[in-house]
Amino acid sequence: MAVSKAFIQDLHDRLRIEDVVSSYVNLTRAGKNMKGLCPFHNEKTASFTIFPDTNSFYCFGCGAGGDVINFIMRMENLDYVEALKRGADLAGISMPDDGYDDSYAKIRLRILSANREAARFFNSELYKKENAHALEYYAKRGLSVKTITHFGLGYAPDDWHALTNYLKSKGYTEQDLVLANLARRRDGKSGCYDNFRNRIMFPIIDLRGNVVAFSGRVLDDSKPKYVNTSDTPVYKKGNVIFGLNFAKNNSEKKLIVVEGQMDVIALHQAGFTNAVACLGTAFTSEQANILSRYADEVLICYDNDEAGKKATARVLSILNNTGIRTKVINMEGGKDPDEIIRNYGRERFISLIEGAANRVEYALNEQMRHFDIRTDDGKAKFLSSAAEILAGCSPVERDIYSLRLSNEFGISKEALEGQIKMAYGKLRKRRKAERERDEFEVITNSFEDKNNPQKAGNLRAAKAEERLITSLMKNPAFYKDIKDKFTPDDFITDFNKRVITHLIYLIENNYATTPAMFASEFSADEMGTISLLEVNGELIGNTVKECEDCIAVLKQEAAKGTANPAEMSDAEFLNSFKK
Ligand code: CTP
Ligand code: MN
Repeated sequence: MAVSKAFIQDLHDRLRIEDVVSSYVNLTRAGKNMKGLCPFHNEKTASFTIFPDTNSFYCFGCGAGGDVINFIMRMENLDYVEALKRGADLAGISMPDDGYDDSYAKIRLRILSANREAARFFNSELYKKENAHALEYYAKRGLSVKTITHFGLGYAPDDWHALTNYLKSKGYTEQDLVLANLARRRDGKSGCYDNFRNRIMFPIIDLRGNVVAFSGRVLDDSKPKYVNTSDTPVYKKGNVIFGLNFAKNNSEKKLIVVEGQMDVIALHQAGFTNAVACLGTAFTSEQANILSRYADEVLICYDNDEAGKKATARVLSILNNTGIRTKVINMEGGKDPDEIIRNYGRERFISLIEGAANRVEYALNEQMRHFDIRTDDGKAKFLSSAAEILAGCSPVERDIYSLRLSNEFGISKEALEGQIKMAYGKLRKRRKAERERDEFEVITNSFEDKNNPQKAGNLRAAKAEERLITSLMKNPAFYKDIKDKFTPDDFITDFNKRVITHLIYLIENNYATTPAMFASEFSADEMGTISLLEVNGELIGNTVKECEDCIAVLKQEAAKGTANPAEMSDAEFLNSFKK
């Protein structure tokens, strides 16, 4: 993997991280830096920080960090070279065609092309005489041929090799098919077999129109009900939102989020072309971020059962951190939107949308289910938990709902407001405790670094290593004064040894020493630690003397290691004679 460092540096001169990030995250100024809610973990107070000086980012909450290319990698689920290309596109420059290894990108292209071919195959199977039962299944579920074509639906025949043979005849190799998860290898034997058999097939299409995965449903009640593509080089569960390729074109920035792909398809057919489904996993904050790019308001419409209610609570808690307005559709008369449309038609669904509860109404309704409000005791308990809900609301919301509740329950508004005030005091205390705990976690995390597992056992040495790295990143000119006093081999932890080795390479070749120049040699996770090292530069003294002190500490620690044979392994003990 050899993208020229000159190209990377040029790209970084043209691609400002704040411009790229601000199309995903709301940023506010904080001195010379910028802050926002981290798109990589769920948080209420902004610990995601952008450093325009070094064109890099670091999240003090989850430890994600890196340069602008790492940011694009994580956000768009791309590999390093693809993210560089995307970055080059954004900056309006072209990437040199030679000098980088694009084999992974080529594999991805082959998988996407095999998937597209497979989708065509499944669709055409649907119209074969021997597969009439599949077309009939769609008809029974009320889907028109137009809808089937629009979503590219199909049928995987009841055969172990139909797709495999077809795609091989088109020039795809078994390895392509296995990597795409369209086929599976036979245990211990040669050859492979179709992953999807006798199922109706839903292609999963990303925002660029690529077929990235499939979901296949049985035609009866047998198990498993669905077989889905597992994670592949082009698909990661929790990253794709079904139907968003169509729904994103809506002029209104409103999306309906449902549980299943059948619900999405039934809703689109009925004219609700803003319906989407988050398939495959529990709702993730990555999905929330994608939604927030296309919606100001999300209507949640999950199944009318306990699992659906639980999932709704999760979606609400994640979305409420993104600033998207949320509403919950209360589905009466059916288990899911598909059933409601089929049983009662589109008018019913329109009135359900109109009656959707906003965030506060939904929370109050859900609380109410837990109490017997016909008794005085139940009423009092409900109102005190309602006060807790309202304590977390805006003053206007508090006013509206305390008036509504006081009318509904025949109590004075003042009494309810008193209760809300008390609840607010408790809430503030709890939030303060949470904040302190979060801060504590950041501090303790920095001792236990998953990228540098040796740090915990060699804390003194690791800190000296890190200080030296940080100083040199900030002040590459110091290197000439200290280069005769140490080598990377004086470093005790392997991770820091790799970092200093690369840093020296950058300094000796007059490259910038920003995180960007590390990103091609270190993983996205490791870049988190490297960004932190860079960020720490704000905190240290930055003198040559300080670098020399760090080197002295490293020598002391190394001496300690050899001075105590009782603590050495046999190999270390033997090695100590060679020095
Ligand atoms: N799902 C899955 N695997 C399962 C069950 C469900 O991947 N074994 C996913 C599917 O994406 C499905 C969604 O969860 O669309 C919701 O599941 P469910 O409500 O059971 O399915 P429906 O979409 O309602 O399917 P149908 O109406 O055809 O029964
Ligand atoms: Mn259903």
